[in-house]
Order: sequence, then structure tokens, then C-alpha cells
Amino acid sequence: MRFANNTIVVTEKAYAKLNLSLDVLRKREDGYHEMRMVMQTISLHDDVTVSCTEGSGQIVLKNNLKYLPTDDRNIAAKAAGVFFAKSGIGGVDTHITLHKRIPVCAGMGGGSSDGAAVLRALNQILETRFSFETLRSMAQQLGSDVPFCVEGGTDLAQGRGEILEHLCDLPDCFIVVCKPLLSISTPRLFERIHCENLRLHPDTAGMLHALEHRDLSGVAARMYNVFEDVLPKNAEQIHEIKSELLDCHALGAVMTGTGSAVFGLFDDQRQAQQAYSVLARKYRDCFLTHNIGRIPE
Ligand code: C5P
Repeated sequence: MRFANNTIVVTEKAYAKLNLSLDVLRKREDGYHEMRMVMQTISLHDDVTVSCTEGSGQIVLKNNLKYLPTDDRNIAAKAAGVFFAKSGIGGVDTHITLHKRIPVCAGMGGGSSDGAAVLRALNQILETRFSFETLRSMAQQLGSDVPFCVEGGTDLAQGRGEILEHLCDLPDCFIVVCKPLLSISTPRLFERIHCENLRLHPDTAGMLHALEHRDLSGVAARMYNVFEDVLPKNAEQIHEIKSELLDCHALGAVMTGTGSAVFGLFDDQRQAQQAYSVLARKYRDCFLTHNIGRIPE
């Protein structure tokens, strides 16, 4: 290692994810659910700065949101612990600073992406040259969405979310995301899902076909999230945001993950800007973003 009293600092962008579609197939013996989801990375990101120096193995985390935990309950801090345990490297102090922009409890993978960014940053700082495949296996211990966030892009995610298959990139488009103040607990929403009672499932095969044919409207028409079927009664704003996006000519609109953020896809920048302006008058957490591809290894 190259320390000898120097500090090495790396800043990684931790991109948000959206679920273009989300299906829950069955409850498993281990308590998790078997998923089938089409995941997409977008340009909205947190900045994750990691600095390492010689020391006693401390991991210190700071962030710009007062209410987020800074100990092991924060995936970013936990990720550093897992990286050192797996790599067998010791004698390093790590300082992590999160500049958060991705809303928390939104279904946008903010915490997961911060964790994945810490793994990429430490891999660079410590010159360990682990492949993304190895980082993904570390990421599995941190949460179901963390393996996808290591590389991002457009993927089919199955199993708990850790079995990933790269898909053709989503054609370039404008994406308006809006999160109402209401937050939904992920485990609670999973408890409300009873797979045998689900009325509808997304046409995942059709979405994969549309991606292969670079058919943005075909993708948008197939966006569906089974969690929308089991939302609690106080979640009207999710339906309202969806209607507003569609009224503003979104090609399709859907909730991401276990919510509460909702997004719409647009092929026209002016219409996307208009939808953003309409929603931003009512909701604090609104973003006009676009899709991005995989992070280069
Ligand atoms: O893996 P992660 O910590 O992100 O999952 C949070 C919670 O979401 C789990 O404790 C579980 O209740 C639920 N979950 C699930 N099936 C999945 C992923 C998450 O039941 N595939």
C-alpha cells in the first residue's frame, strides 16, 4: 500500500436506480421474495468521497443529512467493513463523506448505491484490482439492490435481486422523478404482498423484446410494479403523481421499488420540462434526469 502518512482520496458518483418493471414471483423459505425486475441507472447521484490513511482500522462516516445513521446501520459504512474483512487488509483508517441528493426511502436505491460506490472507491484507493464480479459478491451481504449498483446500466435482476443479466441499454430519454413526502417501509410493503392474490404481473418478456428493438414506447407501455397493487390507503399521492405525469404526455409512468417515488419517461425534452415544472410546484423532491449506461470497469 502507498500510504506512509499520505492520505489518498477518491470521489465516486453513486447513481440512483429505477425499476422499469418489478415483479414478485413467490415468497422463499429464507423469508425473502423471488423477484424479476428490470433495473435502470439514472443521472441523479450522491457524491461519495472516501479517504484512506495508515491507522488502526477506524471507519468514520459523515453526511449532509442529520437524520441518517453514521454507524454500521448506514450501508456505506458497512460496505467499508465488508471490504476490509473480505480483502484481509488492515491498518487503514477510512473517512467517508456522503453528499446526498437521492431522496431517502424513495425506492431509488440511494443507500445501496452509496454502499456500492464505497466498494469501488476502496478498490481504487487500495489498488486491489477486484473485478466487478468480486465487488458484487461483497455487495450481496449489504442488501438486495447493492450488487446492481456496482456497475448499473440496464439489467434484469432476479433471485433476491442479486442475479443480474445485462440488457440492451434503454434508448436515451428524459425521466421525471417525483417523491411525495409519504414514505413507505420496504419490509411492511413486502408483508402486504401475497403472490397468489396478485391480479396482474408485468410483461417482462415483452419489455426485454422492446429493449432489444430500441423501442422506447414499447418499454414505457410495459412499465408495471406489482407493489402498486398493495399500497396502503394513505398513498393517494402516488396515484396523483402518476396521473399528472401521464397528463403531461409521459410515455409511461410507474412507482419505483417499494416507493414512494414515481417516475415518467419522455421522448420530448419540452414535455419533460413541463411535467417537472407542474410537479415541482407541489412536491419538494422532483428531478428532471436521464438514463445512463454501465459504469466502466
Ligand atoms: O435486502 P434488503 O436489506 O434490501 O431487504 C430489505 C427487506 O426487504 C428485507 O428484510 C425483506 O423484508 C424485504 N425483501 C424481500 N425480498 C427481497 C428483497 C427484500 O422480502 N428480494
